[in-house]
Order: sequence, then C-alpha cells, then structure tokens
Amino acid sequence: MANGSGGRGRFGQLGFIFAAVGSAIGLGNIWKFPYITYANDGGSFVLVYLIAIVLIGLPIMMAELVIGRSTRQSPVGAFVEAAKGAVGGRAWGAVGALGTLGSFILLSYYALIAGWTVYYFGQCLSWSFRGFDTGGQTLGDSFGAFLGNGPLQIGFHALFMAVTVGVVALGVQGGIERVAKTLMPVLGGILILLVVNSFWSPGFGEAVRFLFHVGPVTADGLLEAVGHAFFTLSVGMGAMITYGSYMRSRQSIPRSAAAITLLDTLVALMACIVMFSIIFSVDGAERAGTFGKSATILFTTLPQMFYEMPLGVVLAPLFYLLVGFAALTSTISLLEVVAAYLIDRRGLSRRKASLLSGGAVFLFGIPSALSLGAVTGFSSWAPLGERTAGFFDTMDYTVSNWILPLGGLTLAIFVGWFLSRSKSRDALADGHGDVSRWYFIWRDVLLRFLCPVAILWIIWAVIGGRSFA
Ligand code: PFF
Repeated sequence: MANGSGGRGRFGQLGFIFAAVGSAIGLGNIWKFPYITYANDGGSFVLVYLIAIVLIGLPIMMAELVIGRSTRQSPVGAFVEAAKGAVGGRAWGAVGALGTLGSFILLSYYALIAGWTVYYFGQCLSWSFRGFDTGGQTLGDSFGAFLGNGPLQIGFHALFMAVTVGVVALGVQGGIERVAKTLMPVLGGILILLVVNSFWSPGFGEAVRFLFHVGPVTADGLLEAVGHAFFTLSVGMGAMITYGSYMRSRQSIPRSAAAITLLDTLVALMACIVMFSIIFSVDGAERAGTFGKSATILFTTLPQMFYEMPLGVVLAPLFYLLVGFAALTSTISLLEVVAAYLIDRRGLSRRKASLLSGGAVFLFGIPSALSLGAVTGFSSWAPLGERTAGFFDTMDYTVSNWILPLGGLTLAIFVGWFLSRSKSRDALADGHGDVSRWYFIWRDVLLRFLCPVAILWIIWAVIGGRSFA
C-alpha cells in the first residue's frame, strides 16, 4: 500500500501551490537573498538572479515535478522508477539518495537558524512591552552570547524540529497542506504590511534605486546568483520531486511551477525592500560602520532599527513571526523528503517515519548547535581546511557548494539526456495540454545544455577554491 497511489497522500490543487510556495519561501528569501544582494551591490545582481531563476531554476523545478508526479515516489524510488529502461538503470537511484541526504543535512542546521527567529520573536515581544533594552550590551554581543549558549541553541533547535515533526506526522493533506494554507496567507499579509510601512521611511527611495540600478556584476556574483536560484526554489534536493509525487494529475506542471517561481521571487524582492528601507534610513557613515556586509544583520542590527521606527513595537515581533513561518513551511518540506523515503522504501508508518527522521535530524544538528561558541572542539573542527570553520560551516559548505549543484546537475542531465522524450512530454502535457511550442526549448536547450554548463561552471569554481555558503 505504501507504494500505491491510493495509500500515499494527495494535495488539493491549491494546496499543492501553497505547500510548494511554502517550501520555496524561507530563510533563503528573507535572510539570505537581501544579504547577498547587499553584498553584491544590488541592481545588476538582481537582474542576473532573475535570469537564473527563469532559465535555470524554473526548468529544473519542472523537471523535478515531472519525475515526482509521473512515478508517485519519493526521490530514490522516483529515480529508480523513471530510469527503468534508460541507460544506467537503477544506479540513478543514487541521485535520489544524494538529494535525501542533502535534505537531511540542510534541515539539521536550517532548523537551528529557524529556532533563532523564535528566540528573537520572544525577545521582541518582551522589548515591545518593556521597552528596548539590551542591558548595556550591543546587539552583536548579545547575539554572540546567545550563539555560545549551548542549552539555548539545542532547546530552540529541538522546539523547531518538534513542530516540524508534528506537522509531517499529520500527513500530506491533514498536516502539510493545512499548515501551508493557514500560514502562507498570514505571511503574505505581514509582508505586505511591512512593505507598505516602508513607503514612508526615509530610506525607501534609495532602497528601490539600490535594488534596480545598473552596475557591474562580478563573476562571483553571477555564480552566487545561479546557486541561490536553486536554494530559493527548493530544487536540487528532491523536495519538489517529493511534493510533485502528491500532485494531482489534472494540475498543470508548467503553470504551477511558474506560479511558485513568481511568488517566491516577489517575496524575495519585497523582503529586500523592507530590509533595505530600514538599512538606508540610517546615514551612510553609520551604515558602513555597523552593517558592513554582515550575514547576521537580521539578528545583530535589525531589531534596534525596528525600535527606532514609528510602529516598531508592533512591526518588530511581526517581522520575526514572518521569518519563523516562512522557515517552518520549508523545514516541513525538508523533513518530508526524508520521511517519505522511510515510508515509501522502508515501509514505515507515517508517524514512525516522521519521528525517526526528525529525531535523527535533531541529533545530527547538535554538533552544529554547539559549534557556534559553546564547544570549542566543534567550533574549530575544519576537515576541509581553511574553507570552513566549525561543524555548522562545514555542513553548510557541503550542502550549498556540492550537494545542491550536483543534485541539480544530475537531474538536468537525467531528464535532458536519459529520460525518453515521450515520457517527459506526456508527463508535462498531463493536466496542461499541448506543450509542443516550448517543449524543445525546455528539454533540448535548457536541460540538455544551459543548465549543465552553468552548474558545471559553479562546480569548477568550487573546485578552484570558491565558496558560496
Ligand atoms: N527554499 C528554501 C529557502 O529559500 O529558504 C530552502 C530550501 C527548502 C531548500 C527546501 C531546499 C529544500 F528542499
């Protein structure tokens, strides 16, 4: 029964869109994208990113959905099934295994960061009631102390994992779809409120100019844009294969993928407007001094900026709630990849699979949680030499620089070169109708050539010593 479509869950049409958009929108949109856009000087970087999303991210998302829906299996089984009769046969299952492993590792530190948003939500609530007061410490110092507090790190990581496990255990429709349908509209509402509020801030004009001005892009910026296109759309690790396996046959894959991509991109741009409006409201000198190009901006400087704004007492907790919700719908999709493997391939019940995979992810996340200052052995662990420092960094480096690009590359090559034309064409046409106008471009141009070349370029740069964590 576990393998038959009857025993597996099925999303409603809108439910699928909400769940997949929920997976796509996450820390990548609200934290990472504004940060890398700031570090790459906005403007042209955003343009390159948009091109990468359309030419590389979107076609690969469609390919993942094709494989997931046509086989109705989680990644390992999906590749094994889809590769029947193709050169390589069952060996393609290894690509699914790589994605499942990637989801497992990513979740182990993604849920940790997600836990920070819960902590800051609590902090902001108390600041909103009692007044903004960090007890004489700078926010940077108190963030450092928080990171170095082992029990707190493990506690919030455990909390976030527990909620994620609870949702996944409730099932595809009763858990994942229901939560996405509830949280995504709330998330949209909060974000719109924050964007509208930023219209009045003094930095709004400069934020928009920064986001859309034309300037030079570096080769590193280009590579980072392509890498982020994968991350933000949740492709390269089997999440869309898994969600695709619960998608209805009469739903159009191209239209759904386009909607998911569009919403994900809109949210990333809106998050930039909100954050940059705040950042550009302080004067240039202070900005250079306090912000630098720091990745931790969200926790070290932003809270204070909120409390200097007119409606800060309301907006600050709302903002962290927004980030927490966005992260939750992403952690759910990551756990679902691992749990679905145990259900489909190992015959476990959903409840057991969720608990087991969630428990294992939690345990594996502990060294990461303790590597941020609590335990020196984990902080200084650097098996890859100077590229990474500590367990957390090493995991992030491995997933972002290796597993994600390799997963995307092998998927594009599989669908572009090994999956028969009739199979992918029929799967795409299911629920959509005629695809003949652009099928050639999708398979024979983008998946066969452009995507592999762009990804090989990333891998080449990583081998050469660059790091895109
Ligand atoms: N797309 C998510 C984000 O932007 O935060 C991260 C992510 C979720 C990546 C699920 C991969 C995945 F399978």
